[in-house]
Amino acid sequence: MQNFAFHNPTKIVFGKGTVSQLGGLVAPFGKTVLLVYGSGSIKRTGLYDEVADQLRSVGAKVVELSGIEPNPRLTSVRRGIELCRAEGVDFVLAVGGGSVLDAAKAIAAGARYDGDVWDFFMHKAKIADALPMGSVLTLSATGSEMNGNAVISNWETKQKRSFGSIHTYPRFSVLDPTLTFSVPRDQTVNGVVDIMSHVFEQYFSLTTDVPLQERLCESILLTVIENAEKALEKPDDYAARANLMLCGTMALNGGLISVGMANDWASHGIEHEISAIYDIPHGAGLSIVFPNWMRYVYESRIDRFVQYAERVWGIERGGKSDEDMALAGINATRAFFTRIGAPATLSFYDIGEEHLDVMAREAVLFGPIGSFKKLNEKDVKEILTLAL
Ligand code: NZQ
Ligand code: ZN
Repeated sequence: MQNFAFHNPTKIVFGKGTVSQLGGLVAPFGKTVLLVYGSGSIKRTGLYDEVADQLRSVGAKVVELSGIEPNPRLTSVRRGIELCRAEGVDFVLAVGGGSVLDAAKAIAAGARYDGDVWDFFMHKAKIADALPMGSVLTLSATGSEMNGNAVISNWETKQKRSFGSIHTYPRFSVLDPTLTFSVPRDQTVNGVVDIMSHVFEQYFSLTTDVPLQERLCESILLTVIENAEKALEKPDDYAARANLMLCGTMALNGGLISVGMANDWASHGIEHEISAIYDIPHGAGLSIVFPNWMRYVYESRIDRFVQYAERVWGIERGGKSDEDMALAGINATRAFFTRIGAPATLSFYDIGEEHLDVMAREAVLFGPIGSFKKLNEKDVKEILTLAL
């Protein structure tokens, strides 16, 4: 196990009816609130009215930024920063899925920075300060509700890039599983794949002697697998939605489940290049990429893939070789994704070879990616080719 420091400052308020605590959570941070949301799901479900009532109850002045896109765009972030400056915003409140939360974080950081917010994503500047932000989460997937990361798309340059900072952790996140009852089937599936992928990025590691972290990862995977189909069959199954929500938050909250371990994150890097050009949902892109990444890298440390097959998919050893076990675990992953309706190939989105070179080049813009197996441009191109 490697040395580590772990600090997560986000307060989580979890459960049915917890939006009723929102006013009290926002009040300490000031009077002018930028309310950031997407394209209308919160209006359809009535959550918008509830949030507005809560903010009114503590005398907050509300400035609104709506229309945050899935794969949120830099142009929306810039609009939010201008609003913060023009209206003297003290607090940024995100109500929505990961895209809305990420946009809110970028706005919060950009509002306290004199240069261009895109600098943070291009490693040209480090975030030194941010407006406080908080969230009401409506979709279980990204973990953005309890981490400092934001992923933003620059549509002009066709780049999708991320930052992570201690200054952009939400001060609080309200997690009411009932708010996810209305998430459509395909977004529920994307969320399931994203949560599992966050665990994979940490679990497939070369770090040894970390049995607790391995079991934390495996327990999240097992819990997601057990609850995904329940939520798909019955979207208002509270227990299933609550378990998925908690798994999403635990899977990516500053690295709790993988403290002291090297992480990988190559598959996320590759997926972001696909979304940057084709604007496909993040979870769908991961479903296409991850099993192919697994096939490409499993020989780096076959015992981890054998353990994955045994403990997560219950595959019995019998007379199987390590390689057969590893491949059986990878095939079980693909079969599960297919069973819940996640795509397996780039051709599902009519994506061909046209931009593979650009994607491979951009994925390694700041150097080779991954740690389980370090990938260069040629490796990324091969993985993308496997995914065609
Ligand atoms: O815009 P609205 O109307 O709200 O509709 C959204 C959107 O169309 C809808 N939705 C959300 N909650 C709903 C709902 N519809 C009905 N009922 C509800 N309760 O779902 C659609 C997708 O929402 P989005 O926020 O885009 O999904 P998700 O949470 O999967 O976020 C994806 C984004 O997060 C980034 C991804 O790259 C992508 O841009 N990621 C952020 C991470 C982070 N901050 O740590 C890590 C992830 O790996 C990921 O990269
Ligand atoms: Zn993800």
